[in-house]
Amino acid sequence: MRPIVSVYIAASVDGYIARKDHSLDWLDRVGGFGDDYGFKDFLSSVDTLIIGRNTYAVATTVPDPYPGKRVVVLSRQLDSVREGMELYRGDLKELLSKLHKEGAKHIWVDGGSTISQFLALHAVDRMTISLIPLILGDGLPLFNVVGKEIPCRLVSSQSYPSGLVQLRYETAEK
Ligand SMILES: NC(=O)c1ccc[n+]([C@@H]2O[C@H](COP(=O)([O-])OP(=O)(O)OC[C@H]3O[C@@H](n4cnc5c(N)ncnc54)[C@H](OP(=O)(O)O)[C@@H]3O)[C@@H](O)[C@H]2O)c1
Repeated sequence: MRPIVSVYIAASVDGYIARKDHSLDWLDRVGGFGDDYGFKDFLSSVDTLIIGRNTYAVATTVPDPYPGKRVVVLSRQLDSVREGMELYRGDLKELLSKLHKEGAKHIWVDGGSTISQFLALHAVDRMTISLIPLILGDGLPLFNVVGKEIPCRLVSSQSYPSGLVQLRYETAEK
């Protein structure tokens, strides 16, 4: 069976995932409520990540952001990535089939531009979007132009005392 491909991301109500300068401080407003919004369970279900170069740059400001995971970084500009991670440039369908052959079971794709490309390929199965109760006003968008219409089936919606609303969808046409 091919790997499941998931998106798990937080966005402002107006659809941004980071400030223009890539800062994520605004996510703190939903911290400290004693809830991780299912993140630990999600992360433990994932064996492989595919992340864009901008997400890589932010994630690798900490020593071991994805312990025990296979991490593939997409970039045409970088010549190398941190030890233990892999650099990839090329066809994304081919990347998925390579990861499949090499045993991936559940892949987390992360980064706005990266997610949109996998959506355009109809390669995303599950999407968890956590809406942060804030209009950020400007920033880096969750979705770039996907160029395809993709029906989404709502699996669950859950609101939390912090005001975060989590929407879980299934997306891929099977
Ligand atoms: N709110 C959240 O939960 C959340 C989650 C994840 C990330 N973020 C934030 O979102 C921002 C990143 O999002 P983003 O939309 O800027 O982009 P991104 O997807 O992380 O990175 C985009 C870059 O990835 C590379 N790339 C993408 N597709 C490629 C392909 N097919 N082949 C080769 N390289 C490819 C390109 O790098 P090159 O220019 O090197 O080719 C591209 O400029 C960061 O600030 C991050 O912190 C927020």
